[in-house]
Amino acid sequence: MRISTNNAFDLDAWSDQALTRVEQALSLWISPQAPAGLGEAMRYAVLDGGKRLRPLLVLAARQAVANDEPHLGLDEAALRAACAVELIHAYSLVHDDMPCMDNDVLRRGKPTVHVQFGEAQALLAGDALQALAFELLTPESLTIDDAVQARLCRLLARAAGHAGMAGGQAIDLASVGLSLNEDQLRQMHRLKTGALLEASVLMGAACGRPSVEAIQGLQRYGQALGLAFQVVDDILDVTADSATLGKTAGKDAANDKPTYVSLLGLARAQAYANALLDEALTALTASQLTHTQALAALAQRVVNRNT
Ligand code: IPE
Ligand code: IPE
Ligand code: MG
Ligand code: MG
Ligand code: MG
Repeated sequence: MRISTNNAFDLDAWSDQALTRVEQALSLWISPQAPAGLGEAMRYAVLDGGKRLRPLLVLAARQAVANDEPHLGLDEAALRAACAVELIHAYSLVHDDMPCMDNDVLRRGKPTVHVQFGEAQALLAGDALQALAFELLTPESLTIDDAVQARLCRLLARAAGHAGMAGGQAIDLASVGLSLNEDQLRQMHRLKTGALLEASVLMGAACGRPSVEAIQGLQRYGQALGLAFQVVDDILDVTADSATLGKTAGKDAANDKPTYVSLLGLARAQAYANALLDEALTALTASQLTHTQALAALAQRVVNRNT
């Protein structure tokens, strides 16, 4: 479905253009040469699949703070950040699917990495993708300011580690069979999924010099969108089929995971996702930035998606 905002911003055309750059860069930067088949497993985990929401958020946030002024170094930093965050995300999926975690056999419409290459290689592919993300953010080049490189690394490291994705995944595993209250569930979702989405927005913003007001608005947008994303992921696990999702539907109930659907039921979970979309759009307006059409359209896409 083509989603357009009031002023007829064409998100499909915008994302096609952005993703052409991202796909080319990912394919170039993930070397098939890594030893003993590791490169093949890394490329399998990242290329040919996925919605690429996180890279799109980085590039949309960069656009929002750039005010139509191209800048060689900052545009390159944003492309590197877009790819780095996708590498962390892809690594998190490889590990999330392993038998010691969610034990899934289907991802992005293909057998999961551990099914295809074995568990040890899947573990290593995840490790190597995580390291590569930080290598991409710190090129030996004079075009990207050292301070920008350091800020991007800090944002990504924080969102990937114990205070973000890895911490949230630990809560997720510790919560199997438990019924969390709404505060606990929100905290788990903010960490395991929200943190990386929020970081995507902040990394794009770090490739510019936004005002404090703009940063605060973008951060609140990223937080609301990040939570909305996982609420919708919980909903789709119940309402969509495996062929559409490209991953096994119904796994949350099968694994006895607490989700927004198990806590609130489908209708209230959807209403909550819609309320978070409003919150994200309100925060964008409060940012006072003017080039936010892509960010607004991406938020609509996140909440109205069917995959
Ligand atoms: C799935 O993320 C895992 C979660 C964080 C919920 P996506 O739905 O963004 O997965 P891809 O990248 O499109 O495969
Ligand atoms: C995963 O959440 C979040 C990650 C950090 C990978 P889920 O376990 O719900 O993601 P899916 O449904 O397997 O994609
Ligand atoms: Mg999981
Ligand atoms: Mg999973
Ligand atoms: Mg899920």
